[in-house]
Amino acid sequence: MSANRPIRIAQITDPHLFADERAELLGLNTRDSFLQVIDALADEAGSLDLVVATGDIAQDASMRAYQAFVDAIARLGVPFRWVPGNHDDRQLMQSLPCSQNAFAGHSVLNGWQVVMLDTSVPGKVHGELAVSELERLQDRLSVAESDPQVRHTLVCMHHNPLPGTAGWMLDIGLHNADDFNRLLDNYGSVRAVVYGHIHQELDLINNGQRYICTPSTCIQFKAGVHDFTLDLLPPAYRLLDLHDDGQVQTTLRRLENYTVNVDQGADGY
Ligand SMILES: [Fe+2]
Repeated sequence: MSANRPIRIAQITDPHLFADERAELLGLNTRDSFLQVIDALADEAGSLDLVVATGDIAQDASMRAYQAFVDAIARLGVPFRWVPGNHDDRQLMQSLPCSQNAFAGHSVLNGWQVVMLDTSVPGKVHGELAVSELERLQDRLSVAESDPQVRHTLVCMHHNPLPGTAGWMLDIGLHNADDFNRLLDNYGSVRAVVYGHIHQELDLINNGQRYICTPSTCIQFKAGVHDFTLDLLPPAYRLLDLHDDGQVQTTLRRLENYTVNVDQGADGY
């Protein structure tokens, strides 16, 4: 890693894989769209320092789905980190041989720390940060204030720490977001919070803090509606360039030449 160029991270989120490679989620084959995203990412793997996967790795929380994910990621030859989403089974993910590295709570790269937070609550759609996760975040934010080697923080997690953008989403986000956002307020090093869960593209400043949401590698959810509605946008991934001065530049890449075929009458997932 050169000190002259920014750190480049790829975020993939919400692949919703099944044990059965032919299985579909609301009419879309999630294994196929995920593998197409990995193929696109493979073309630029040489520029990547890290891949982060922000949850809902599997739709059916099956070992075969997790193994398929890990096998595909391994093709990139880039270190990766993951956190569980509401559809995942953390213990099963942890039982994979790669899990010790993949579950590392933070990584330090050229003055930046990337902090991975587990917001999943077993059996629930919404998210919550356990006291232990809040304390771990606080510890890392303290490090950024005292250690000159760590000047900037990127936080990655599954659930949205801001209210959802559609009526049906209002209760499915991070329930103790106030505790989380207060911590970010109290420390100054967090340059962006990156997440998934609501399957859409967002990049906004709220109360002086930057929040970035990335679309799924499969189906997308429409913003600004009351009831569950799918958006007809292609699967995507995100590149994040972390600069030495704390600036975060990001590019969203959607699959080209991908025809979105989904069940438009679906009223939930
Ligand atoms: Fe999801």
